Amino acid sequence: MPANEKNMSPALYDSFIADYYDESPIVRQRTQDVTFYRDAAREFGDPVLELGCGTGRITMALAQTGKRVTGLDLSERMLERAARKRAALNKEERERVHLVQADMTQFDLGDKFQLIIIPFRPFQHLLEVRDQVACVERVRKHLRPGGRLILDVFQTDAERMHDPVHMRESPLIEYTTSDGRQVRISERVAAFHRAEQRNDVETIYTIEHPSGKKERLVFAWPLRYFFRYEIEHLLARCGFRVSAEYGDFDRSPVRDNSPEMIFVAEPGW
Ligand SMILES: C[S@@+](CC[C@H](N)C(=O)[O-])C[C@H]1O[C@@H](n2cnc3c(N)ncnc32)[C@H](O)[C@@H]1O
Repeated sequence: MPANEKNMSPALYDSFIADYYDESPIVRQRTQDVTFYRDAAREFGDPVLELGCGTGRITMALAQTGKRVTGLDLSERMLERAARKRAALNKEERERVHLVQADMTQFDLGDKFQLIIIPFRPFQHLLEVRDQVACVERVRKHLRPGGRLILDVFQTDAERMHDPVHMRESPLIEYTTSDGRQVRISERVAAFHRAEQRNDVETIYTIEHPSGKKERLVFAWPLRYFFRYEIEHLLARCGFRVSAEYGDFDRSPVRDNSPEMIFVAEPGW
């Protein structure tokens, strides 16, 4: 049952993108973050709440290492895939996983967690400051004493805020799905909105089916970009203290060319 009916549809990921998510090499090649979040759960403990869990890529990995984990997502289609993965786990692992359809800015689960994580940038789908604050406040309400919040966003490359070169469609990757579809993924920025710290992005899937049928599917999505001290201030505003900050999942510091910004925070500013 949806934990909150107010903001249920249509979710951004309730589209073809849910069907292509897990097989995309862009997602499959992300293994370092899985290790990072697994280690974090070992360090900080469970139960874990994952906000924006999608198809359960991280959720299931945590359950397989013995952690109790609740995966929350807005998208029914992403959660359907997560439910299939949960069904494929053994009984013990399966019983450790709960999936909830809810908005990460409005949830109330009636439970508290030792660790709350927001992996692979769902926070960048929260466009407005009021939504970001609402999310972090929900996190604070759901944390046990001594609990931690960990979220990752990418480090913003200033060129990507305005350079028209990014408006040209550029190829990202090509692959063949398990049922023989040939997929080419490309991307472009359709519009820059610097005043709102947002780009309108198009991720374009050009698909050739085994039957010869061709399709061009466009996932159009707004991307909110952040700056390091903006997140630090946001967390402080919501009563959190940043206890560690990394520039990548190998726990290296945030440097000029770091791809990520990963924040580990605890209540108690
Ligand atoms: C890039 S995917 C990340 C999925 C997963 N965490 C992973 O690492 O593979 C972003 C996810 O955030 C979810 N999402 C976006 N806005 C949300 C919101 N307001 N509340 C809950 N989930 C949201 C999307 O439905 C999508 O599944």
